[in-house]
Amino acid sequence: MTRAISLHDVSKTYARGVRVVDRLSLDITPGELLVLLGPSGCGKSTVLRMIAGLEEITEGELRLDGEYANDLLPAERRMAMVFQNFALYPNMTGRGNIGFPLRVEAPHADPAPRVDATARMLGIEDLLDRFPAQLSGGERQRVAMGRAIARHPTAFLMDEPLSNLDAKLRNHLRAEISRLTRELGVTTVYVTHDQAEAMSLGDRVAVLRGGVLQQVGTPRSVYALPSNVFVAAFIGTPRINLLRGVVRAPLDGAMTISLGKQYLRLPEPLSLDHQLLRVQQGREVIVGLRSEAVRIGKPAAARPGEVLITGLVEHVEFQGHEALVHFSTGSRPAVVPDLQAPRPVPRPVRRRRREGGTVLDRLRERAGTLRAGPVVVLDDPADAAEAAPEPASPESRAPGDLIVRTVPDIDLRDGMQVPLLVDLAHLFVFDQHGERICPAPARLPELEE
Ligand SMILES: Nc1ncnc2c1ncn2[C@@H]1O[C@H](COP(=O)(O)OP(=O)(O)O)[C@@H](O)[C@H]1O
Ligand SMILES: [Mg+2]
Repeated sequence: MTRAISLHDVSKTYARGVRVVDRLSLDITPGELLVLLGPSGCGKSTVLRMIAGLEEITEGELRLDGEYANDLLPAERRMAMVFQNFALYPNMTGRGNIGFPLRVEAPHADPAPRVDATARMLGIEDLLDRFPAQLSGGERQRVAMGRAIARHPTAFLMDEPLSNLDAKLRNHLRAEISRLTRELGVTTVYVTHDQAEAMSLGDRVAVLRGGVLQQVGTPRSVYALPSNVFVAAFIGTPRINLLRGVVRAPLDGAMTISLGKQYLRLPEPLSLDHQLLRVQQGREVIVGLRSEAVRIGKPAAARPGEVLITGLVEHVEFQGHEALVHFSTGSRPAVVPDLQAPRPVPRPVRRRRREGGTVLDRLRERAGTLRAGPVVVLDDPADAAEAAPEPASPESRAPGDLIVRTVPDIDLRDGMQVPLLVDLAHLFVFDQHGERICPAPARLPELEE
């Protein structure tokens, strides 16, 4: 059985009144893999723990299959959690670990058939007789997954489960998680700060920032139509170029966006999107150009819709299959004051592991099932955020203010002046508050949810 999980105006306030999740509404459909994405400290784990029942919901409503569920004990929710640190019971073999929640749940039933079936599904039959100390990180995480799956939970809640693994293994297990959750058809909420992971894994991605939902949609739609500059900057590699511009919209002349001493001249007749900029006349805006919107090319090579600017090579970053060229254009990089995630509120970090334990223990005691892990707690998620590297903040950019992708063997040296062609069909414009002006919401209806 899989679950519809819905949050309606859910808020979380910890002691001292700090609201770490603010009126979050999300409808997760049965069998869906929804990724909660956001920088460290934005409230992802808190949301997951509220869904699991490990954290009280301060305000708002959680519904499971439409039923009010705020007060359900974790056991009654039958969800399985997988954490970053995949702590297995060290004194139990793979078999013992996977079978443990089954034995707790039904002490008189033989867990072997389920354990074996789970191991087959994960291709870890050969790990069953080994102890955690005899397993690699990836193998441990597979056993941990097995422990979550074996119980046939109604949902998986995964909190940065791959963050501790090296890149190659991460990609491999990511694909495996994607395959498994789809095969099992179990609703999954997957938390990560890694946008590439979110994009490759999610049916939909919900972007959180400072406890506030910024946007939810398919990976394709959040990339193509970020609702604000934060989402635009958070999603996509290399990061979207963000430049400060001023809209010049004379009634008689061509409409332009000036970038320092240069300008983008919008092609006539103005597209519907560009017409929207008329009302911004004289205002400062943020111009967003993803790497696919800019290429190195002579004016004569310009295609329709492309306009010319000039960039000064600051630095060439060789990447093997391509190079990233950092240019300065004389425009100022956009700094949106509230772009950065709010500083995490100070708290007694090191004690959280124990606190988490007590909450859970208390709940279990209330349920009268002292050790019956209702939610399979493989480890406390508290440490996940601390260990995870903070993604580059949108302000922390290299000296160049425009990054362009090229073939790796391009002959460019620092200090060269290079013509750049900007494809205005790929132009994003955000207002001073960071909200997207263009493209307009209605422009690509097939992408907008
Ligand atoms: N038990 C707690 N008491 C007080 N503040 C907390 C507690 N747990 C988390 N926080 C704070 O809530 C915010 C969100 O934390 P968390 O959900 O762990 O973020 P994420 O998982 O996105 O990194 C952070 O500012 C964190 O410091
Ligand atoms: Mg976390």
